[in-house]
Amino acid sequence: MNYTSHATAIIDEGATIGEDSRIWHFVHVCSGAKIGARCSLGQNVFIANKVVIGDNVKIQNNVSVYDNVTLEDDVFCGPSMVFTNVYNPRSSVSRKDEYRDTYVKKGATLGANCTIVCGATIGEYAFVGAGAVIKGDVKPYALMVGVPARHIGWISQQGERIPLPLRGEGTFLCPHTALRYKLNGEDMECLDL
Ligand SMILES: CC(C)(COP(=O)(O)OP(=O)(O)OC[C@H]1O[C@@H](n2cnc3c(N)ncnc32)[C@H](O)[C@@H]1OP(=O)(O)O)[C@@H](O)C(=O)NCCC(=O)NCCS
Repeated sequence: MNYTSHATAIIDEGATIGEDSRIWHFVHVCSGAKIGARCSLGQNVFIANKVVIGDNVKIQNNVSVYDNVTLEDDVFCGPSMVFTNVYNPRSSVSRKDEYRDTYVKKGATLGANCTIVCGATIGEYAFVGAGAVIKGDVKPYALMVGVPARHIGWISQQGERIPLPLRGEGTFLCPHTALRYKLNGEDMECLDL
């Protein structure tokens, strides 16, 4: 496997890591983890066994990706953001067979210090603001901020606001990418994918 890792990183035998991925100081990757190509794992990142990570995923410092978390291609995890996998933990009750899945779809951004309560699917290119707490599914291209997170708008693949209301009908042409977006009722879609 053709990736680079710092001498302090611990990569357990059996982990798969794709071409040109970069693994920085004090990272631990468990044996069952599957990590794609061109990923970056920042300082002090932990990747558990039952984790699948696509290509070109960026995970900033101090993020733990626990069992039952799936990150699709081009996902960005901001520094110190938090995944979970037990919904109602108690130290005295074993819940290892009750993990709830978290899916983060292609291109989504999870801002610094946000928390994803397990059992949620974060839609394609959704954007979770810094410090938000997500509980439940997030629509593609939705911008979510606050605690609990609320849907305040739409955001393009470029990472800029789409000037359309939360619901209704409308279209937007991104001046940077020429991608066309269409609001259908309460859902945003990109017409060019
Ligand atoms: C969401 C974000 C991109 C700002 O987007 P924006 O379109 O410029 O939004 P605005 O700053 O115009 O804010 C719109 C509203 O949302 C609120 N808001 C924006 N970001 C917020 C956040 N993270 N948490 C809570 N409220 C937030 C603003 O206060 C404002 O509220 P108001 O309408 O009541 O005044 C930015 O605030 C953010 O969180 N970026 C993530 C940064 C990060 O984590 N980077 C990691 C790599 S270092």
